[in-house]
Amino acid sequence: MLDIQKIRTDFPILNQKVNGKSLVYFDNGATSQKPQVVIDAIAQYYQEINANIHRGVHTLSQLATDAYEIARGKVQNHINAKHNHEVLFTSGTTFGINLVTNGFAAILKPGDEVLVSSLEHHSNIVPWQMLCERTGATLKVIPMNETGELVMSEFDKLLSTNTKIVTVNHISNALGTINPIEYMIQKAHEVGAAILIDGAQAVPHLKPDVQALDCDFYVFSGHKMCGPTGTGILYGKEEWLNKFPPYQGGGEMIKEVSFEKTTYADLPHKFEAGTPNIAGGIVLGTAIDYMNSVGFENIQKQELELLEYGTKRLLEIEGLRIYGTSKNKTSVISFNIDGIHPYDIGTIIDKLGIAVRTGHHCAQPIMNFFGIPGTIRASFSFYNTKEEIDSLVEGVKRAKMMLS
Ligand code: ALA
Repeated sequence: MLDIQKIRTDFPILNQKVNGKSLVYFDNGATSQKPQVVIDAIAQYYQEINANIHRGVHTLSQLATDAYEIARGKVQNHINAKHNHEVLFTSGTTFGINLVTNGFAAILKPGDEVLVSSLEHHSNIVPWQMLCERTGATLKVIPMNETGELVMSEFDKLLSTNTKIVTVNHISNALGTINPIEYMIQKAHEVGAAILIDGAQAVPHLKPDVQALDCDFYVFSGHKMCGPTGTGILYGKEEWLNKFPPYQGGGEMIKEVSFEKTTYADLPHKFEAGTPNIAGGIVLGTAIDYMNSVGFENIQKQELELLEYGTKRLLEIEGLRIYGTSKNKTSVISFNIDGIHPYDIGTIIDKLGIAVRTGHHCAQPIMNFFGIPGTIRASFSFYNTKEEIDSLVEGVKRAKMMLS
């Protein structure tokens, strides 16, 4: 078992008072808090080895380059990518998805189909809509049901040889549903389609194995897994990345440049134009080390307990409805109280030091499905406690009383 009180001492922000109250941070789905080792590693980078990478012969540049490439190796090991060059540093999940849609712009033609799930964050909807507008391909949507699960029989029907790519999140940010991606990857491949998994909400809770999954692309952000903002990873199978044109032109992504012809660098540099977020990439490696030292089995055990306890306690409140009731879900509880706008609850409990996200969670199609403007979302991390859930329940009760 994790010693949660000890773990909490790793996160200095958790001792903060917010609005005069002890902080209860339940907005982990938006971004996780950072442990001291991560905060220290950022300062250490700038204090000791700050220099541009892959460019200078001087010692600092080499030290920074080595540290950056070591971090790439850590990510490769963490997600079990076959090749180091299949791991691209990005600024986050959104960047990774846009890079892939740009790659498909050169491949898709009218008549081709892109299959997107109805559980997606806007960042995994809009780039595909833009791609379809650009290429004349058609966007098709895998429907969901009342429990917040994708309907697999409908997915099966939508798949055909016209399907060129399927895109789905591993875990829904708005509802916490864990999607059956293993099944979906296999089915997509049976019709010859590629498949992208948006792992932004999964990597804080589990360790994906991209070879076992056999997905074509897996994208995620560093900041939701204890790492710095502005960091992310696009894993792509070598054969796809080699097929894609570069996403951005600039320094670092070339072999040779002349006004007559420019040739491009090999993977991964072909997709890493310009000076990257060097400190961020290196410290993402530190964050991954930290999460592995806590251990994903421990993380899952603690988060499942919080999910069960939080669900039970919140349902004690009359008029409270939880959206996303799949048996397969992670530590996210999205809810509303009859007749009260989620924003009003969020504002009142903020005064009590409780941080939750309210609104559509960048997933308006899910809110439209349920016919609501938004929800209150409490998303738990392994450093949260049952006592904090008690504070949330008391806060929501109080807000309800004030607003009814
Ligand atoms: N995608 C993040 C969330 O769900 C920001 O809150």
